[in-house]
Amino acid sequence: MGLRVAVVGVGAFARCFIPLFKAHPLVDELTLCDLNAQKLDAASREFGVKSTSPSLDEVLTRDIDAVALITQHWMHAPQAVQALRAGKHVYSAVPAAVTLDEMRALVAASRESRKVYMMGETSYYYPEALYCRDRFRKGAFGRVVYGEAEYYHDWDHGLYDVYAWRRGKNWRALAGDPPMHYPTHSVGMAVSVTRARATHVSCFGVADSKPEDRDIYRDDNPWKNRFSNESALLKMSDGSVFRINEFRRVGHPGTVRMTLFGTEGSFESNAAGSVWVTKQAAQTERLDEMLRCGSAPVADDGLMTKVTANDGTHLGVSRVHPVQRLPKEFRGLHNGHNGSHQFLVDDFLRASAQNKLPPVNVWQAARYLVPGLTAHESAMRGGELLEVPDFGAEPTDWPLLDPNEDAA
Ligand SMILES: NC(=O)c1ccc[n+]([C@@H]2O[C@H](COP(=O)([O-])OP(=O)(O)OC[C@H]3O[C@@H](n4cnc5c(N)ncnc54)[C@H](O)[C@@H]3O)[C@@H](O)[C@H]2O)c1
Repeated sequence: MGLRVAVVGVGAFARCFIPLFKAHPLVDELTLCDLNAQKLDAASREFGVKSTSPSLDEVLTRDIDAVALITQHWMHAPQAVQALRAGKHVYSAVPAAVTLDEMRALVAASRESRKVYMMGETSYYYPEALYCRDRFRKGAFGRVVYGEAEYYHDWDHGLYDVYAWRRGKNWRALAGDPPMHYPTHSVGMAVSVTRARATHVSCFGVADSKPEDRDIYRDDNPWKNRFSNESALLKMSDGSVFRINEFRRVGHPGTVRMTLFGTEGSFESNAAGSVWVTKQAAQTERLDEMLRCGSAPVADDGLMTKVTANDGTHLGVSRVHPVQRLPKEFRGLHNGHNGSHQFLVDDFLRASAQNKLPPVNVWQAARYLVPGLTAHESAMRGGELLEVPDFGAEPTDWPLLDPNEDAA
């Protein structure tokens, strides 16, 4: 028997995921859930999903196996804990939590319930993350000694609207959350390669300078946070150093990306493109074509050379995306954020069906998030060097899903 799944929150981002949960062959029954009856009704009709529920509280009383929380970002942890404690597997949009206490409670809830928790970190399936994990596995970096990862998203690129629809009428008073409280795209992308954890952090913040911008990042917001940009230096458990930038005021088109230096080879990326380099300049490889996510459909051998018509194909992926592992039912469906959405949904459903740990399980989610929460604390203390709390590694008696090997 397949899974009965509820998508909780049918707002802007959920639109990308509802068709994927509906199409996946491991899902027997899909329910849509939202507090907003109008939105719920519209989504039910648009996506052709008859079963609906008026709230998370209500849907958790039903005989379902799993929920996908695509609710506002500050609600995730309490909702995930509630769902895990109700015996449901949980997929959550990022971030996993907004405080250390919330993250601690979330780890405990997953460990004690033995239900799958997965954070839907989109950067985990960005092409550069896949490429670097493969190079790392094969030893091509030698030892990784230094990394840089960043998430640049200027307010002028849609954030005013996003906060208005997520927070409601008084959104400005609640929009100044610290950039380092949303660190999972940057930290997670780099940590996903080496799996080293941050042990110490020192961070500095940059306050908004234009008077007209100061109404968001100001002393009287709930975080007393004036920083729109934050830069952190992390000491990692393998002896390497990572520099993380979270910028919300920056003259840049926006990006999630990383650069990683190893003793034998390095991956460098900036707005001009990506390269693999070694000590021999002549061996420099330009990676732009390989890592480019095509808007064109891609044949299921994973090579962009075989572009076919818009049927039976995978959309929005690069040459390094292992599309052969995806269910054929995903072909032709939307696949956003650099080809990641379909892989995330597939990971979660396969992990839930087999009760295995997905790659971005609760312990990895903590290691993607907690360095950022601690970094902001450091920035508030003028850059003081702080220890990064650790919530441990995956329990050895809970098998990890290998999405490329385990049967679907
Ligand atoms: N790259 C990424 O990973 C990425 C990109 C975009 C958004 N996101 C995440 O997606 C999440 C959703 O963003 P959005 O813009 O779609 O938000 P949204 O405000 O449009 O939608 C959230 C919906 O959740 C519903 N909701 C809240 N509590 C509920 C409850 N108890 N029961 C039922 N429904 C409930 C709300 O009514 C709302 O309709 C955010 O947390 C954001 O961080 C991640």
